[in-house]
Amino acid sequence: MRPHQHRQETEAVRGGADLSKKNGPLSTPIYQTATFEVTDNDQQLRATSTDMFYTRYGNPTQTVAEAVIVELEGTDAARLFASGMNAITTSVLALLKGGDHIVAQRDIYGGSIKFFSHWLPKFGIETTFVDTTEYDQHARAIRPNTRLLYLESPTNPTLRVVDLRQVTALAKQHNLITFIDSTFATPINQRPADFGIDLVMHSGTKYFSGHADLICGIVAGRRDLIQKIHDTRTTMGGVIDPHAAWLLIRGMKTLAVRVQRHNENALRVAQFLAHHPKVQRVHYPFLEGHPQRALAMEQMRGGGGVLSFEVDGSAEDARRLTEALHLFTLAPSLGGVDSLVCVPVLTSHAMVSAEHRKTMGVTDQMIRLSVGIESADDLIADLEQALTVVSPTAQTAQV
Ligand SMILES: Cc1ncc(COP(=O)(O)O)c(C=O)c1O
Repeated sequence: MRPHQHRQETEAVRGGADLSKKNGPLSTPIYQTATFEVTDNDQQLRATSTDMFYTRYGNPTQTVAEAVIVELEGTDAARLFASGMNAITTSVLALLKGGDHIVAQRDIYGGSIKFFSHWLPKFGIETTFVDTTEYDQHARAIRPNTRLLYLESPTNPTLRVVDLRQVTALAKQHNLITFIDSTFATPINQRPADFGIDLVMHSGTKYFSGHADLICGIVAGRRDLIQKIHDTRTTMGGVIDPHAAWLLIRGMKTLAVRVQRHNENALRVAQFLAHHPKVQRVHYPFLEGHPQRALAMEQMRGGGGVLSFEVDGSAEDARRLTEALHLFTLAPSLGGVDSLVCVPVLTSHAMVSAEHRKTMGVTDQMIRLSVGIESADDLIADLEQALTVVSPTAQTAQV
């Protein structure tokens, strides 16, 4: 693992600064170009393996962004993609072949479930979904052809926490590659590579960008695996645009301070909801009563900015509540400075079968909040007024 020169707060701001030489621009230049000119064909040959050949292979602005991520995650290398889903699909196709098998947690992002259960079988790659926190089930699902253990922690939208030490020990025993979607945690709250996870993935669209103004994906990890993923990315073509890479660099400069505020706000909102009579259950890793709170507090530095809760009412009540909010904008996605709200069965998990959703505990009454960096008092007041649309007596009769 790569030693860090500075603390994360410093690396977030200064980590990839080598393009800003003395007397050069402080802000990283955007190399908004598809291709790079060379003086002769010898130089052309040398350029092929660099970030100054053709932007589908790499680009200096992208390299700076990747260097910051390496520092934040504490990994050997990192690569950026056109979206989080693109990072997942390219990486899995880079590492597996027909006849291989994946063990995946049941509670993962809906798009990942669809890729594993609908697309990968077309290439002869099978997936067994296991209970997220039952590690005996993980062990029993491993076959001689299993290559990958696919994880997500905390999970979307149920906020379950995976024991990273247990899963890495299991993977080592069976020589499996560990791949984690760490989008909800960010490297500020959790650094999976420190626990021995091989590949760490993020939807960079979320906290890394931080302002809901770009789409990108991140994979960071072991150099040998990242090299394979890099080669596949150049063929599959899902590379980040240089301008999006620049926006990402700007977003990452404030990642540490934003995440700290998200953590504080989300905990306060979770505590408020937990005591509200019209709320049945609140899911937040650092909330008193969360089944894995002790584990979360041991392996995470903060609970993150996302929480979900179930109203004491019907699906219709949940929908009306989300429409009655003023400060939480009704929109999918998460991780930006603006607070957002959505109903997972209509958004992040709409593409997952009702049966699979049931096993995950994703109910029709579940609401997911992405708590932004506004005043927690204002956000709580907004929730308080919106909860008046839920009528517990009427709905309890319907359930
Ligand atoms: C946990 C998680 N992983 C992956 C993704 C996919 O990322 P993207 O939308 O950037 O493709 C999302 C998107 O919502 C997500 O929430």
